[in-house]
Amino acid sequence: MTRPRPTTSEEPLASDAPKPERLQKFLARAGVASRRRAEELIAAGRVRVNGETVTAMGVKVVPGVDVVEVDGVSVVPPQLHLYLMLNKPAGYVTTLKDPLGRPIVADLIPDTGRRVFPVGRLDADTTGLLLLTDDGEFAQMLMHPRFHVPKTYLARVEGRPTERALQRLRDGVVLSDGPTQPAQAELVDAGIGSSLVRITIREGRKRQVRRMLKHVGHPVIELHRERIGPLALGDLPEGAVRELTPEEVAALRTAAERGG
Ligand code: URA
Repeated sequence: MTRPRPTTSEEPLASDAPKPERLQKFLARAGVASRRRAEELIAAGRVRVNGETVTAMGVKVVPGVDVVEVDGVSVVPPQLHLYLMLNKPAGYVTTLKDPLGRPIVADLIPDTGRRVFPVGRLDADTTGLLLLTDDGEFAQMLMHPRFHVPKTYLARVEGRPTERALQRLRDGVVLSDGPTQPAQAELVDAGIGSSLVRITIREGRKRQVRRMLKHVGHPVIELHRERIGPLALGDLPEGAVRELTPEEVAALRTAAERGG
């Protein structure tokens, strides 16, 4: 717990380290009560910080470090960062600015007051699960090839892939930028002129799924990302955005740490 100081020239904090914030703001961000109501709770002596009852206004706490309780129940600290999932529609470029003036994913993100950026990218014509966050360390961890978080796509492809073609994807194919790692691939539905293939890859090379499927003779007609590691898009409508739950963020971290 830190007492309010007359100036903001406190000891330097790493940009990603949790910063002290006023207790009532902390309580409001944690969803306990509005700021005003939180002030009332504090004044009523119902809030403890690190075991001490606090009734003065202006006390600051560090989320995730100081233990805050209301009526003896500890408050889960609000997340330091914002983590969003978007069901990206086709036609949107995975960028925050486009000099060519094309539709961009940023157009679909409500103003949160935070500068979120996409974690990895989907081609403009790919739909589905795209993560956005203002947590640089998290984004890097998920994107880093070393962590190999699997990504699952549903692809509508031309023709009807044989078991042999699927096995080639599973074994890995040699693309212009080198051999791919083994993928998981299954035929979900076989139609007359086109089929549905579910494919999971652990890399993130440019247009990789499209190139892999073309390589085995089945160019992609439509591509949709269903999952990133343990995180599924579920029934989020196209174009919609939702915040990840703390459990989902934790599961993604664990998947990255474990290597998928
Ligand atoms: N692979 C592709 O080919 N395109 C995407 O958008 C994502 C993965």
